[in-house]
Amino acid sequence: MAYEVKDIDLASQGFKNVSWAEAQMGALLKVRERFKKEKPLSGYRIGMALHVTKETAVLVRTLVAGGAEVAITSCNPLSTQDDAAAALAAEGVNVFAYKGESVEEYYRFLDKVISFNPQVTIDDGMDLVTRIHAEHPQLLSDMICGCEETTTGVIRLRAMEKKGALKYPIIAVNDCQTKHLMDNYYGTGQSSLDGLIRASNLLISGKTVVVAGYGNCGKGVALRAKGLGANVIVTEVDPFRALQAKMDGYRVMKMEQAAREGDIFITVSGNLRVISAEHIRLMRDGAILANSGHFDHEIDVAGLKQMASDVQRIRPLFDEYIVEGKRIYLCGEGRLVNLACAEGHPSTVMSLSFCDQALGVEWGIRNRETLEPKVYRLPEEIDQTVAKLQLEAMGVSIDELTSEQKEYLSSWQRGT
Ligand code: ADE
Repeated sequence: MAYEVKDIDLASQGFKNVSWAEAQMGALLKVRERFKKEKPLSGYRIGMALHVTKETAVLVRTLVAGGAEVAITSCNPLSTQDDAAAALAAEGVNVFAYKGESVEEYYRFLDKVISFNPQVTIDDGMDLVTRIHAEHPQLLSDMICGCEETTTGVIRLRAMEKKGALKYPIIAVNDCQTKHLMDNYYGTGQSSLDGLIRASNLLISGKTVVVAGYGNCGKGVALRAKGLGANVIVTEVDPFRALQAKMDGYRVMKMEQAAREGDIFITVSGNLRVISAEHIRLMRDGAILANSGHFDHEIDVAGLKQMASDVQRIRPLFDEYIVEGKRIYLCGEGRLVNLACAEGHPSTVMSLSFCDQALGVEWGIRNRETLEPKVYRLPEEIDQTVAKLQLEAMGVSIDELTSEQKEYLSSWQRGT
């Protein structure tokens, strides 16, 4: 057993927070109950690079209940909840993470997880998979499978698969409906605004909020900003999404124009420099920048730093840059605002994503003989099981198809 956390004495607060998360994560607790009886992960070593939060601690407990040995580090230098990390360490989990770790520490911790010789990986953003392929290829032959949490990671994994560079099977957890239609939309929607508000304590009502990207995450962010009274502008490169944003009632324009109009900017595009130094130069005095995409390169932070004549931290993780006489504020150093400045997605939504993770690991291990080094979706039945578990946990009952309806849906003769 090994750990490196900020302060092991934070464990008592961590236990309280993890219990609070568990109280909202009924579906995952059902999976844990079954895992405890059946031990489907018995004897397997799982290496994880996931935000180390109270919700992730609930997932780790579930994997351990299933018989796995776990080593975990974070997938972002600013997202660790130090009390949750301490609680996991106190329970005997190998955990290497603290909030505010340097990039060097980040990679040192990834290597600590890798040195535990995982046979299964769980990633959010695929840094663990990349590191194993690039720096530790000797591990690849024993690797059974991996699970990937996020859109950004899945896109990169598919690129890797296409080039023949992927050497073990990966389950794209993000592709489950119970993940991307829930976590990305409701989770990112609420937690991004939560992070922005905790960082700045600004009133959102009456502000012009520019949302860069209208995928599931962007849709959630735009909806919550609108709900708080903002005038929302959406920027997009995809014509279908742009059309949908327009029809959802938002103003849609190029970033070059939005940069002049916005008070607050939130990037959720999964791409590079969607807010460039040139865009920042066009912004109003007092503009606020936040990123909710996985990586910290959606806003050109390096360009911002280069242009700035002065910078000071005026609140926790809230920095004021002076650019050509104007004040520009950056939340969370341009890293995921919801996790750097708040607590990430609420537990209920993470319950769904983490059921997909736990069941993804189980499915990958069960099918280890037939899976190839490709990116897989979890079977529809598993996705449906997760939705049903969560409905049950929320006390919601739904109708079932009658036999007449089933027959109707599989027939073609009946019309007007
Ligand atoms: N990603 C977004 N929110 C999260 C949370 N609360 N825990 C783990 N990963 C997350």
